[in-house]
Amino acid sequence: MQTILITGGAGFIGSNFIPFFLEANSNFKVVNLDLLTYAGDLQNLKGVERNSRYTFVKGDICERNIVESLFQKYNFNGVIHFAAESHVDNSIKKPDAFVKTNVFGTFNVLDVARNHWMQGPNQYKTAYEHCRFHHISTDEVYGTLGAEGLFTEQTPYAPNSPYSASKASSDFLVRSYFHTYGMNVVTTNCSNNYGPKQHAEKLIPTIIRKAISGAAIPIYGDGKNIRDWLYVEDHCKGIDLVFKQGKAGETYNIGGKNERNNLSIATTICAILDELKPKKTTYKEQITFVPDRAGHDFRYAIDATKVEKELHWKADEDFESGIKKTIDWYLKKE
Ligand SMILES: NC(=O)c1ccc[n+]([C@@H]2O[C@H](COP(=O)([O-])OP(=O)(O)OC[C@H]3O[C@@H](n4cnc5c(N)ncnc54)[C@H](O)[C@@H]3O)[C@@H](O)[C@H]2O)c1
Repeated sequence: MQTILITGGAGFIGSNFIPFFLEANSNFKVVNLDLLTYAGDLQNLKGVERNSRYTFVKGDICERNIVESLFQKYNFNGVIHFAAESHVDNSIKKPDAFVKTNVFGTFNVLDVARNHWMQGPNQYKTAYEHCRFHHISTDEVYGTLGAEGLFTEQTPYAPNSPYSASKASSDFLVRSYFHTYGMNVVTTNCSNNYGPKQHAEKLIPTIIRKAISGAAIPIYGDGKNIRDWLYVEDHCKGIDLVFKQGKAGETYNIGGKNERNNLSIATTICAILDELKPKKTTYKEQITFVPDRAGHDFRYAIDATKVEKELHWKADEDFESGIKKTIDWYLKKE
């Protein structure tokens, strides 16, 4: 039995990943370290709370003594690092927490893992040779695209928001631990996720929530900003593959080739709600344009050829199938 540390597992992606990973890997135990900020919710982990291979610990990744004591107690064979401040709008209003958690917090977990697993540069301690640190990152580190082109693993970093700048910084730290210490690290840069358990503040839950409550559905600017949407379970499958089979020191882009602009996301959700939860007027009438986000990147789109070819990953859901599952989940939760 191996034991891995998952950070930020009570958030959106982590709480989808943990049940998936435990189910797919009966030889692994998981310890979930999460501070339970406003973004973390243990309700999302109800399904695994009684699983004997799952342990929850409330704590801050920035506290070195907490992370060290967990490594001492559980002797982790791997880390999958999700914990982060993740909402771009919050990073514009209050960037401090993003630098602390995303940059310093990542450094902290990475450095404790190195000390626990390695005795010097390129020297793993006996029995720790296969221990791996998997860093979960975003396509936002690449900046913005025009109407054409895709982000590949070779695209130069050009982060534009305090959020993406903090994630880019953490990616660089992880990269440096491979080149300087020969540490076994992998990074995945994924496009926008959607699906069950996402925090109410994010775009798709906001559209669903506002639509159902009869409120204005806010859309930034002219609604033409484009994101490449991936159903969260497809991301989880990609993380599992890269963690187990990815090549040390490499980065892998994960994305579902499902580019949609924000206005079309809102109109699609409204059309589905018109069918599932009809009312006198169409939900579309609630769409309202609001002043654009500062520094709003125009377009993100991922070239996932590397993970598809090398690790045989592919997305099972397209936007049409994934968004129906997502809306169903939010309607049941109501
Ligand atoms: N959501 C997306 O579309 C997306 C896309 C690509 C990459 N990512 C990355 O995936 C990871 C997870 O994203 P998410 O959407 O699940 O985020 P989230 O905001 O839903 O969850 C973050 C979790 O981290 C925890 N956390 C925050 N600060 C902490 C700290 N100091 N110590 C311990 N725990 C702390 C929170 O309590 C929360 O449970 C992030 O690193 C994010 O950058 C997200």
